[in-house]
Amino acid sequence: MTKLAIIGGSGLDKLGTLTVLHEHRLLTSYGAPSAALLEGTLDGTPVVFLPRHGPTHALPPHAINYRANIAALRDFGVETILAVTAVGGIGAGASPGIIVIPDQIIDYTWGREHTFYDGKDGTLDHVEFGTPYSAPWRARLIAAGHSLGLPMLETGTYGATQGPRLETAAEIARMARDGCTIVGMTGMPEAALAREAGLGYANCALVVNWAAGLSDLAISLADIERELKDGISGVVRLLSLAVRADHSPAP
Ligand code: HPA
Repeated sequence: MTKLAIIGGSGLDKLGTLTVLHEHRLLTSYGAPSAALLEGTLDGTPVVFLPRHGPTHALPPHAINYRANIAALRDFGVETILAVTAVGGIGAGASPGIIVIPDQIIDYTWGREHTFYDGKDGTLDHVEFGTPYSAPWRARLIAAGHSLGLPMLETGTYGATQGPRLETAAEIARMARDGCTIVGMTGMPEAALAREAGLGYANCALVVNWAAGLSDLAISLADIERELKDGISGVVRLLSLAVRADHSPAP
């Protein structure tokens, strides 16, 4: 069976429905991951859970040790990562409350440790990244969302910004011109590192606000938190169904 991990983002620092069996505090050659890996079962399916921002949500997006997170999961034997992210909506249809299963990425982040091929150990590879997300796992997420009747966009381009501040209206207008459907701060370099590590990776993105300049109302943290609270239970149900071994065949 594929060894699966879920990386939880904002609103999912704890996976309440996970039955925790073991806690693993790992140290990688890139440092410590955001938290101990929680090994357990989700509705009977073995999964490993890692909260990206740490157990108390203290790590801002640019300070997350993405390399340590991915290296720890790889070293633990994980083969596929399902990442949960909270995002702003840019494209038509990406309204708050919708779950997007993106199929593309544009990376606007900077200054992050973004590769395992940093020239320090004499190895180099240029991994293929034309299709940044795992097609079979995207299909499983989409199928699970549909069978639960959750509001979803089956495709979209995830624009990864540096944060922790939100974007300006002009930045979002540029991202819309670029073709971004959603905007978040943690989708990269996580996805690229997973690819470099040879792991399958798919992103389940919950839209929690209209991105800057797209609504008459200013973005408020209270609104974001309310959308997160309302939407995250659907995301967890979707994940539980998607990981169930008997749900559909997945390579
Ligand atoms: N921008 C960037 N990241 C986000 C947003 C946003 O509007 N909403 C949630 N995460």
